[in-house]
Amino acid sequence: MTKTPSLRSAVGALATLALLSGGRAPAVTGFTLSPPKSARASTATVLGGPISPSSLWATRRSVVDDADDEELGARGASPPEAQGGGPPPPPTRTRREALLSGSAVTVAAVASSMVLSPGLVGGPRPALAAGGTTGKEYLVERQNVLITGANSGLGLDAATRLAARGHRVVLACRSLSKARGAADAVRSALRDSGGSSVPELVPVECDLASLASVRACVEGLKSGGETFDAVCYNAGLARNTGATEVKRTEEGFELTVGTNHLGHFYLNHLILPLVRRGTGTVVVTASSVHDPDSPGGAQGSTATLGDLSGLATGPTFDMVDGGAFNADKAYKDSKLCNVLFARELQRRIDADESTAGIAVNAFTPGLIVGTGLFRDQNPVFTKLFDFAATSLLKVGETPSFGGGCLEYMVLDKSVRAKGGRYYFSSPGSSKYGEAAYGNQFAPAEVSKEARDDAKAGRLWELSSKLVKI
Ligand SMILES: NC(=O)c1ccc[n+]([C@@H]2O[C@H](COP(=O)([O-])OP(=O)(O)OC[C@H]3O[C@@H](n4cnc5c(N)ncnc54)[C@H](OP(=O)(O)O)[C@@H]3O)[C@@H](O)[C@H]2O)c1
Repeated sequence: MTKTPSLRSAVGALATLALLSGGRAPAVTGFTLSPPKSARASTATVLGGPISPSSLWATRRSVVDDADDEELGARGASPPEAQGGGPPPPPTRTRREALLSGSAVTVAAVASSMVLSPGLVGGPRPALAAGGTTGKEYLVERQNVLITGANSGLGLDAATRLAARGHRVVLACRSLSKARGAADAVRSALRDSGGSSVPELVPVECDLASLASVRACVEGLKSGGETFDAVCYNAGLARNTGATEVKRTEEGFELTVGTNHLGHFYLNHLILPLVRRGTGTVVVTASSVHDPDSPGGAQGSTATLGDLSGLATGPTFDMVDGGAFNADKAYKDSKLCNVLFARELQRRIDADESTAGIAVNAFTPGLIVGTGLFRDQNPVFTKLFDFAATSLLKVGETPSFGGGCLEYMVLDKSVRAKGGRYYFSSPGSSKYGEAAYGNQFAPAEVSKEARDDAKAGRLWELSSKLVKI
């Protein structure tokens, strides 16, 4: 079968878009289908480049190597080939090289070869995890888990997975009716899969765009005598990247940062005393777009909190860095806030005897166009993008993969044993199914700005002022 040049370039453009978007739709105002020049160039440079599982593993390793080898090197990080005496890993690259190679260039080569060599499409794809062995080891003791944004996307999927294992789940959603709907959806999913019993599911209202709603939610949980093994700050929204009008939360905060960061920040302040000391965990759903060196984070406006002068002006801030409103950047900034928050929270927990032993970890589920996160984007583009990224090029993940990431973050013993980490997987890891967790999905380094402890501290102070704690 011969592909015409126009088909080839159309598929190539979609490929590039999918590859470069990383955590979300391309940051091109209006969602045009033309990839940026640099994207075309980077695709061209990799045509015909050799792809092998070991090269993907080498990428994974070098991202990890660059981080904290003592912390990150111990588990799930060596390729099966290496375990079995395979070829030695190539020399360590810089973090930027590794990110670009792992998430865009390498996968772009896969995409390009799919376009140029149709025989590869649907061909064998060797799994990286050998023999179905996975790096995960889940807690079996019954857990009491709270998940925000549990009525949709990966929150709903994780709630279903946890309930299927017999854990009790508190579904914290924007409204009580959404939370009840989520509980019904989990019950019917369990019934459909032949489950004989359904653990307790507790629907609660928690609108993160209203501090009063968050407060009422936690007061209700406290008066019910709740204590938690895990709380998951998962809810999030992304406005249309071309939006120009600033929307605001009930307290007047810019909606994206106000919901994704400040709503969870306030929730954490109130709920942390209910998290079990010594064994409990806090999980933060972040995104690789927090990192301007990642393929998705490099597109369009990049995340930076600058000197936080916007946040310092008070509740009516438009952007954290004090710049003019930019919806694309606001989402990326909110995800950078999530990572800085997680790291600072771990530091504060470790320094306080009353909370010591609680592990805080953040993660990115990868690009999942099939959740509700893209609901504000152009629906035609979103469908096309979903098809290209997930079905055609297989660089996107499924909602179920994302739910599995959250389940892993809650239940895996190694995650629970050590906080302050950020988990990531190379694009297209859904294809490894459950074997991805603890293998492809493993600790990785965060962006340079996210490693700035002084900035994390300042963000914490300003956030505290804004939510009046
Ligand atoms: N999908 C991706 O490609 C991707 C990539 C990286 C990171 N993430 C992160 O993954 C998380 C989950 O997103 P998703 O992809 O599963 O999208 P989703 O299906 O849209 O789920 C987002 C959830 O957040 C909830 N939410 C939004 N605003 C809220 C508010 N004010 N109060 C309470 N809940 C609110 C939504 O509730 P409603 O239904 O009521 O709006 C929904 O339940 C987000 O933090 C997102 O940033 C996603």
